[in-house]
Amino acid sequence: MQTKHNGRTTRDGIRIHEAADFAGMQKAGALAARILDDIAPHVTVGQTTGALDAMIEGMVNDAGATSATIGYKGYRHASCISVNHVVCHGIPGDKVLKDGDILNIDVTVIVDGWFGDTSRMYVAGNLGRKAERLIQVTHDALMIGIEAVRPGKTFGDIGHAIQAYAEGHRMSVVRDFCGHGLGRVFHAPPNVVHFGRPGSGPMLEEGMFFTIEPMINLGRPDVKTLADDWTAVTRDKSLSAQFEHSVGVTADGAEVFTKSPGGIFNPTRA
Ligand code: MF3
Ligand code: CO
Ligand code: CO
Repeated sequence: MQTKHNGRTTRDGIRIHEAADFAGMQKAGALAARILDDIAPHVTVGQTTGALDAMIEGMVNDAGATSATIGYKGYRHASCISVNHVVCHGIPGDKVLKDGDILNIDVTVIVDGWFGDTSRMYVAGNLGRKAERLIQVTHDALMIGIEAVRPGKTFGDIGHAIQAYAEGHRMSVVRDFCGHGLGRVFHAPPNVVHFGRPGSGPMLEEGMFFTIEPMINLGRPDVKTLADDWTAVTRDKSLSAQFEHSVGVTADGAEVFTKSPGGIFNPTRA
C-alpha cells in the first residue's frame, strides 16, 4: 500500500515537506551523526577501512536502523571511506591506515523511512599542515554554504558561497559530484552543486530537505573514476576533503539534521 503524503512538489521536482516531517529527519540525521562520533576513536594507524565499515554496519544494526548504501546500485557497504586523494565513494576494504592519512567517512541511514546522510574528515595519527588547512577550509566552505540557506535565496547562492570561499583559499571545487534532495528517498531533485552564480537555480522554500557536501581539492578540480566503477580520485593525485550535512529549509534559515551530538568535527588524533 502506498503511503499518502501531503505537501507538494515544485515545478523543478523538489519536494516541499510538512512541519511534521522535520521530526523524521531529526531522528535519522541524529543517528547518522552519532555513528560518525562513535567511529572517531577507531580511526587509528594500522586500522583497515574494512574494519571501520564493519563497525559502522554494526552500529546501524544495533540502532535498529537500515543502511541506505548496502544494496544501493550494487554497493555492498554501510559507508564510503575515501582516503587522501580519493574524492568520494571509496570502497572499504583491506587498506591499512598509515600515519598522516586523511579520510572521509560517509554514512547514510534509514530510520522510520527517513534518510540521514552525513560525512566528515578524520586523520590517522598526525595531521600534516597542508591536510589540516584543506580540512579546515572544506568544513568552513560547508558551513558558509549552510549560512546561505534561507527561503528566497537560490541554490546558486549556496554554490557561489562555497566556490568563492574555496577558490579564495586557492583550492578547487569538484564539479563531478553534488549534493541532492533527500527525505523519504536517498537521492532526489535538485542537484545541489557546490559552485555557481548568485541568484541562479531554483528558489529555496521552507520544507525543502537536501544535502550540501562539498568536495575540495588542494590541486586541480578534475576527477576520474577507477575501474571498480565507484572510487573517484583526483586526476593530479592531490589531496581531497569533504564534509556533508543533511539540512532542512526553515522559515528563516536552515536546520542541520546531522549535527554532531558530541560537538566533534575536527579530525581525531590517534
Ligand atoms: N552517501 C553518499 C552521498 O552523499 C552516497 C553514497 S552511495 C554509495 O550521496 F553507494 F556509494 F554508497
Ligand atoms: Co549525500
Ligand atoms: Co553521503
